[in-house]
Amino acid sequence: MLSLVFLCARKVVSDHASTRRSLEFVPKELYPVLFKAAFIDEKTLVLQDLVQNWPFSVLCFQKLLFTDRPRNSALLKEKPSKLCVQTVILGVMAYLNEALAKEGKSNRKRQLRLLDMTGIQDDGLEQDADTMSLWSRTVTLAKACIDISRRHCEEVVQISKRRRGYSATTLALPVPCSSIFVEVRVDLFVNSTSYGVLREALNVSTSSPLRLLCRDFRAEELSLRSTTGLLELLNTTGVRQIDLRFNNLGLSGLNILLPLMTKFSNLQSLKLPYSNVDVRRLSPAMEEELQNFASQLGQLSALKELNLGSSRLSGRLRQLLGALQKPLESLELAFCYLLPVDVYYLCQSIHVSSLKKLDLSGNNLTQVLLQPFQQLLTKVSQCLLHLDIMECKLTDTELSAIIPALCHCSQLRYLGFFCNPVSSQGLRMLLQSSVLLSELQLVVYPFPVDCYDDSMASPNSPSSYSDSAFDQEKLAQIGAEVQQTLVLFGKTDVVWTTDMYVPRTFDYLNL
Ligand SMILES: *[C@@H]1O[C@H](CO)[C@@H](O)[C@H](O)[C@H]1NC(C)=O
Ligand SMILES: *[C@@H]1O[C@H](CO)[C@@H](O)[C@H](O)[C@H]1NC(C)=O
Ligand SMILES: *[C@@H]1O[C@H](CO)[C@@H](O)[C@H](O)[C@H]1NC(C)=O
Ligand SMILES: *[C@@H]1O[C@H](CO)[C@@H](O)[C@H](O)[C@H]1NC(C)=O
Repeated sequence: MLSLVFLCARKVVSDHASTRRSLEFVPKELYPVLFKAAFIDEKTLVLQDLVQNWPFSVLCFQKLLFTDRPRNSALLKEKPSKLCVQTVILGVMAYLNEALAKEGKSNRKRQLRLLDMTGIQDDGLEQDADTMSLWSRTVTLAKACIDISRRHCEEVVQISKRRRGYSATTLALPVPCSSIFVEVRVDLFVNSTSYGVLREALNVSTSSPLRLLCRDFRAEELSLRSTTGLLELLNTTGVRQIDLRFNNLGLSGLNILLPLMTKFSNLQSLKLPYSNVDVRRLSPAMEEELQNFASQLGQLSALKELNLGSSRLSGRLRQLLGALQKPLESLELAFCYLLPVDVYYLCQSIHVSSLKKLDLSGNNLTQVLLQPFQQLLTKVSQCLLHLDIMECKLTDTELSAIIPALCHCSQLRYLGFFCNPVSSQGLRMLLQSSVLLSELQLVVYPFPVDCYDDSMASPNSPSSYSDSAFDQEKLAQIGAEVQQTLVLFGKTDVVWTTDMYVPRTFDYLNL
């Protein structure tokens, strides 16, 4: 239900002219609800005025828009409108331009210090013309930062020209740091296309009236040199996550980057999937690099999450994780070719008593890995919230072997086991056992092998796990049966789906 005050706020923001006239009489306590109403109804003119006159030092998207999410979820899209996000940035720019123009004069209205844009949902998967992706937000903010910095420089030059008369040296003088500024706390996502603009923005950011403070930094397909360049420019306070994907860095590249990362004293999450690390047949020099990498990881003293997915780590996990001083809470080792010795190492490592998220997708958990995996599951059962075991070659036999351990994971909220060759009988078995898991919210299950359309190719390759290779009628039957069972057990709040792209808000940092 909507509150009365929210309904009134909607009415108020519907008329820009009258809102503008009355803005200076509006008590500041009402700004948050007016902001929310203007945002939801896309009243951009009102929104810009509100931001420009924001009466508090902090403007935080997450707090203003999402704190009572259930009540407004019908109104507010998961991803905020592009137009409104742009408007808020424009509002801050207008606020800064006004403040800079009045610099030195009394400026009683000057309040805003921090625009916090973190916490906006963005999985980077789908693009939607009405919303703004993290990548575009990064570019927009970077441009805003450069733009206002330039304008500020020009003004400073103009002023000094006026004061001292024209001198050729004026232009070469360093531009003084603006004493009026707003910090923007933000997650950044960059690739080679946006590298140049972000680099320039971060470079001017320390003296610009608009200063970027990065929380989560993600770079895709970016060269070692560019990545180094950006990491060197980031303000080290407040960086929580570094995520470098598809960068093909290898151990030698990572060893160049890790010393830069040790400066980020709050770095909790390091994601390095697809980094092209391969520990097979290492030369003595490569052995040294591996050891070097491991000891540098150990120096990231706030680290709680590590993703080394899609690297070949067979038999070397002890060496890789051995230097970590504190237990991890999230470990992602998808497609890492793990061996029993690796999983046994995890079983007796410091991490088992704290792991909330574990991703072992893409490792063959049958046969030699089955027993160590069962043991690991038992060890982590008290804390595990999120388990991914997609594409692990699990059949009914292995499934029935791991179900007892799985049922001990009393905190488990998410289970991903898509792309495993289980039958509908195996699925029933899992479904019935899962009623013991009282915290379970979401299960992504595979198309059962007996729903496979015999006329197509073998179901063992992951590529054949496409909808077309399955008998749609049988699949629909299974789906209906799953729903009926959930109703029967009074578990209709648990989502069982075969859609691996279902929106998952189970990022470890939000767990
Ligand atoms: C970088 O990402 C943007 C947004 O997803 C995309 O349009 C662009 O093509 C990417 N650049 C490269 C070089 O892949
Ligand atoms: C940063 O800006 C300064 C001066 O504006 C310039 O000399 C320097 O080359 C820039 N550095 C980078 C990394 O862009
Ligand atoms: C980094 O950000 C912090 C927090 O806003 C600020 O106090 C500090 O001056 C910044 N450091 C640099 C080098 O700009
Ligand atoms: C899984 O690994 C075992 C060895 O542990 C091997 O015998 C088996 O063929 C593998 N299964 C698949 C489907 O690749």
